[in-house]
Amino acid sequence: MKDLFGKALLDYHNGNYTEDIITSTSISDDDELPLPYLFRSYSEMPHLEQKALKLCKGKVLDVGCGTGSHSLHLQVKGFEVKAIDISEGAIEVSKKRGVLNVENISVLDETETFDTILLLMNGTGIFQELTQVSKYLKHLKSLLNSGGQILIDSSDIKYMYEDEDGGFWMDMNANYYGELDYFLSYKGEKETSMKWLYLDFETLKLACETVGLNCELVAEGKHFDYLAKLHETI
Ligand SMILES: C[S@@+](CC[C@H](N)C(=O)[O-])C[C@H]1O[C@@H](n2cnc3c(N)ncnc32)[C@H](O)[C@@H]1O
Repeated sequence: MKDLFGKALLDYHNGNYTEDIITSTSISDDDELPLPYLFRSYSEMPHLEQKALKLCKGKVLDVGCGTGSHSLHLQVKGFEVKAIDISEGAIEVSKKRGVLNVENISVLDETETFDTILLLMNGTGIFQELTQVSKYLKHLKSLLNSGGQILIDSSDIKYMYEDEDGGFWMDMNANYYGELDYFLSYKGEKETSMKWLYLDFETLKLACETVGLNCELVAEGKHFDYLAKLHETI
């Protein structure tokens, strides 16, 4: 990984903002990801993210923290927060923005336990593929203190396969429709492609049941997106 994502975040933070990140996926063309969005304040966050922040309790782990926007809000509110990300640049920016407890690790290498685990901005993305969902969920469950919760958002992207007549063009023999190849470029450089997973609520709920997690629909957004709360089945 070249960490172009982190490079772009650092550029923006250091006042060298000249262009946005360009993303595309296996089913969609080039699109701009505006860098200022990754530095959003609470009032600029989507309703589902604000809802997730309001539901936080106890010691919080912000998984895939990016620039630390959610962590910073929680820190100001007095929460004990740890922010982690696999992007070195993202972690550097989070530190520079004032997040006190940050670590450049994958969630799979996290070992501390928490009362709330946050995964926001398509939190299921980091699971990458449907076959890996149980592994990630089991690990996240092992990081929960008794009575703890996981707050995660995603979208049902079935609509992206809809044609003008309202029919669907997805290949039923292919893998799960939310599994995408994700391409990113910044300032003319291309990042190694990644896998990125969107999970519809029912599929997430089913996966949760298989690992002993209860999955509750907290809120739905305007565009097939949702926020879910997971906790240990009693
Ligand atoms: C879509 S960004 C979201 C950033 C931030 N949560 C936000 O809402 O602005 C996803 C983040 O997850 C990080 N990430 C991907 N896989 C990860 C993993 N296994 N463990 C920790 N972070 C990961 C990426 O580097 C990236 O910063």
